Amino acid sequence: MSKGSFLSASIGRKFFMSITGLFLITFIIVHMSINLLLIFDDSGDLFNIAANFMATNPLIKVMEPVLALGFLVHIVWSVGITIQNMRARPVGYNKAIQSVNSTWASRNMFILGGLVLVFLGLHLFNFWWKIKIVGDPLLEHITVMQGGIPTEMENAYLLVSTLFKESIVYCLIYIAGGILLGLHVTHGFWSAFQTIGLNNQIWRKRFYVLANIIGWIFAIGFSVIPLYFMIKF
Ligand code: HEM
Repeated sequence: MSKGSFLSASIGRKFFMSITGLFLITFIIVHMSINLLLIFDDSGDLFNIAANFMATNPLIKVMEPVLALGFLVHIVWSVGITIQNMRARPVGYNKAIQSVNSTWASRNMFILGGLVLVFLGLHLFNFWWKIKIVGDPLLEHITVMQGGIPTEMENAYLLVSTLFKESIVYCLIYIAGGILLGLHVTHGFWSAFQTIGLNNQIWRKRFYVLANIIGWIFAIGFSVIPLYFMIKF
């Protein structure tokens, strides 16, 4: 198969979805771990130190455009695959027949991904847009002791915690975002390994279980943050 026909073939498209999806999962694991610092230190120092490290580390800076490209390819390819699937599927294809052998999440990946994208747009506007582009009075510089050295940095903790403390609606939106992402990953992670070819009977089951564990960890890990601020403050 030539390079061009591999890219346009269904398996080629799915391959790119899988690789970019697994890359995005790696980012999400790091992102969630740092965000969880929000609930382990009410002074905000731990979260601010981690956020400052992410903002200033040269390697992470290089990864930012790669991450954006990863999202873009994942999204554009998903539209391509969905259109292709719709064309290939016989007219009047019975959803009930599909549901016998598949999970709800696997049949609704495009919708779930679309909702995660809507959440992501709002989320980037809440934080990334203010931290990286327009600034915000809440981000005023503070001095944090880092390894005994006073270090100046933006107060990202105040920006994030204020949103959750002041708005139950945003808390609920972030809980929904975490759950939607978790559901998307429960099928996505497993399916990626199927596509790549690691799909013998034993590994199929293992990846299926692992995908569910990772999906649940994402759903709970992200939801617990707004929940903490809703309950405590
Ligand atoms: C409680 C939930 C979350 C919190 C508190 C949170 C916090 C943040 C903050 C503070 C930033 C700005 C970082 C910076 O520009 O320096 C950010 C960026 C970002 N978040 Fe989240 N996030 C949450 C959930 C999510 C979820 C569920 C996703 C994925 C769907 C996500 C994807 C991203 C992306 C792609 C960026 C831009 C890349 C970056 O700057 O690191 N976040 N998030």
